[in-house]
Amino acid sequence: MSTVMKLHRRFRRTILALATFCTASILVSAYYLYAGYQQEKDLAEVAPEVDCRDVQPPPPSQLRDVRTRRLPDAARTDPTVLVFVESQYSSLGQDIVTILESSRFQYHTEITPGKADLPALTEKAKGKYSLVIYENILKYINMDSWNRSLLDKYCLEYGVGVIGFSRTGEKAQLTGFPLSIHGSLALKGCCINPHSPLLRVTKASKLEKDSLPGTDWTVFLINHSTYQPVVLARVRTPMNASPPVAKGASYATVVHDLGLRDGIQRVLFGNNLNFWLHKLIFLDAVSFLSGKRLTLSLDRYVLVDIDDIFVGKEGTRMNTNDVQALLETQNLLRAQITNFTFNLGYSGKFYHTGTEEEDKGDDLLLRSVDEFWWFPHMWSHMQPHLFHNESSLVEQMVLNKKFALEHGIPTDGAYAVAPHHSGVYPVHRQLYGAWGKVWGIRTTSTEEYPHLKPARHRKGFIHRNIMVLPRQTCGLFTHTIFYKEYPGGPQELDKSIQGGELFFTVVLNPISIFMTHLSNYGNDRLGSYTFVHLANFVQSWTHLQLQTLPPVQLAHKYFELFPEQRDPLWQNPCDDKRHRDIWSKEKTCDRLPKFLVIGPPKTGTTALHLFLAMHPSILSNSPSPKTFEEVQFFNRNNYHRGIDWYMDFFPAPSNVTTDFLFEKSANYFHSEEAPRRAASLVPKAKIITILIDPSDRAYSWYQHQRSHEDPAARSFSFYQVVSAGPRAPPELRALQKRCLVPGWYTSHLERWLLYFPPFQLLIIDGQQLRTDPAPVMDDIQKFLGVPHHYNYSEALTFDSHKGFWCQRLEEGKTKCVGGGRGRRHPPMDPQSRAFLSGYYRDHNVELSRLLHRLGQPLPAWLRQELQKVR
Ligand code: A3P
Repeated sequence: MSTVMKLHRRFRRTILALATFCTASILVSAYYLYAGYQQEKDLAEVAPEVDCRDVQPPPPSQLRDVRTRRLPDAARTDPTVLVFVESQYSSLGQDIVTILESSRFQYHTEITPGKADLPALTEKAKGKYSLVIYENILKYINMDSWNRSLLDKYCLEYGVGVIGFSRTGEKAQLTGFPLSIHGSLALKGCCINPHSPLLRVTKASKLEKDSLPGTDWTVFLINHSTYQPVVLARVRTPMNASPPVAKGASYATVVHDLGLRDGIQRVLFGNNLNFWLHKLIFLDAVSFLSGKRLTLSLDRYVLVDIDDIFVGKEGTRMNTNDVQALLETQNLLRAQITNFTFNLGYSGKFYHTGTEEEDKGDDLLLRSVDEFWWFPHMWSHMQPHLFHNESSLVEQMVLNKKFALEHGIPTDGAYAVAPHHSGVYPVHRQLYGAWGKVWGIRTTSTEEYPHLKPARHRKGFIHRNIMVLPRQTCGLFTHTIFYKEYPGGPQELDKSIQGGELFFTVVLNPISIFMTHLSNYGNDRLGSYTFVHLANFVQSWTHLQLQTLPPVQLAHKYFELFPEQRDPLWQNPCDDKRHRDIWSKEKTCDRLPKFLVIGPPKTGTTALHLFLAMHPSILSNSPSPKTFEEVQFFNRNNYHRGIDWYMDFFPAPSNVTTDFLFEKSANYFHSEEAPRRAASLVPKAKIITILIDPSDRAYSWYQHQRSHEDPAARSFSFYQVVSAGPRAPPELRALQKRCLVPGWYTSHLERWLLYFPPFQLLIIDGQQLRTDPAPVMDDIQKFLGVPHHYNYSEALTFDSHKGFWCQRLEEGKTKCVGGGRGRRHPPMDPQSRAFLSGYYRDHNVELSRLLHRLGQPLPAWLRQELQKVR
């Protein structure tokens, strides 16, 4: 073959090969194109491109049916949420709990893995939960049939709904539900179905065009009319699944199961709560599915304090243009926040301390005095805790008041704020005193009660007639004055306003007091920017009604909403660094007891007090003029006098002593409040209680009342007191209650054990203390860990005249318990003894169980009583 022929053949083969390849490629391409088209077509059939405006509302008959069935049922459940979380630390689980906590809803968490059974769902025919939430909906769907039917039955019977989160990465059919899910998607352009009956706080008025955060979205494909989409979003990036999800198609990220199949309503969320709109819908779902039992009102009160209108570095303060802008912002905000008025704080000493322009700004502020609300700080912006004498504080306040009067600033607002929160909490009583005297202050606010963080735990309280409100953080500080220099970049501020922290502060708190600063309204005017944008965002996305009230009215509103917060719960100021920094140097945290003798009365507490005080390392409080050796702080109203008052009863510690301060108040034992209050102030304190036969205790108490001329005790016999029936005269019933209730030992001890660990509790046998006190005192020394062992065998002696053990003094003298203790009275009559033995039988059985659980021996009297039971 010639070379030309060879070349020709090779060329033909190449052309053929090329042609075959190209045809194949074209065919393959065409096939893929076709297949893609077919898949898109399939998908379009499954999930046609819908917009929220196209979603059809469910027939009203179905909706009404669902709603009316729920309400009466919901009243039969406690307003508590049952939350199944994946683990204690799972982030979605924590997000769920955070929102419930911030909304002040009660909840109970259960960890799903490893949990075979459901917790008890009912108690005495009442449902324990109004709503069930599953962090992972698969745990609900794949539950064994026994538990599942129990839960379904409960939900049906009590009208309880279920919220679940679906986070499966792959496409999956949710077994038993005509619903499938697609995972790992990126989404954009979401909208809210305006017909969704869930919507309450959320407004469905707007289309969010931006991409949704993250690329791990899960969406729902709806195959049944029981499901209503609540939020729809379009697919941004199709994924590699079969069948693939078409770019641009709309899917639901939240669906509402109307309960048309099985009568149970559910709301399912694709993914988690990272997307702010999901958080908002979640709140609405909680409200709707709990039959409105867990609902926040739509009223939101917002007060913006400008926390010292004259204190600011030269060059960062407001000039006249800024003040003008402040007035304009106020007008603008009034369109969205009814009655909006900036609340200006002042320290008169700093008036006119800026540049010439800024001083003119000060003047314009004062010319516009009637446009704003005003409140005083300290004259020189000093921290009140630095003033130990109330009179020096008064002096400072008087100077500021003089300034106010000279400049026509109203002085009757009855609201004040302390520089750096100092003196408000922890309470500096001198500040409360001076505020009352100079200004007639009725309300204040702080971020520090009980702690700055977490913000959602902040609360209010009332002390010395001053209503202390929690103050919220808006992200603006004295140094945040330029938009571009906002910490983390300006997008951080915008994020906080647009569905972030600041937005949810307003959504979740019915009342928010924000602190801003003078410098936030000069410079880039970030204060104005923030609140105008915040109000816009709230208006666009929610049905919340924003308004402002003057501080005192706001405080009344607050405590109407949260009456349980009126009573404060004092803590040790030195347990929190921030609190320590605003705690007077003249005060110490060491004037607090290391242990408490809690009673109950008539068990030998006075003798124990005497014996303890003999110990060289143990010191008691000084006596109270009203209640003698007992301070009675934790159980009653003395608590409201504050910890300064309490600490004044204890000696100031010297550097060399390791004294064990203690306090004995026998009524702490059966007080409802004492354990919680004591645990808050002295959480590490050891607790000593003495138990004797509760019948003997009741008898001794009755005799004590008689000797103190209690009219009821003098009119009725002991038997009449203990056996009085429901129709007995009220004074007799009251006496009976006081006589018998302290003897319900187990209930009271259990309450103390809710707040103190068992190793901090010592239970003493009162019988043994009475007959042989020295070994009991040895046990107490060991329990307390006192540095020096004291020999009570030598220090105590039996006084045969008194008939009790007493302190041995020199020259054969003794010091015995006084105050009428250890007096002789006739023995208890057999009828009362028999009655009380029966009355306390169950309590005693419970006590034996408790002592067994605590690993403590049973006292002889208890063993005898238990013998009678057998
Ligand atoms: P009576 O007064 O009925 O005899 P309390 O101090 O807690 O109120 O308890 C008083 C009881 O402590 C007295 O009741 C008494 O029985 C008992 N007690 C135990 N040891 C005592 C002691 N060493 N001195 C006096 N009373 C003692």
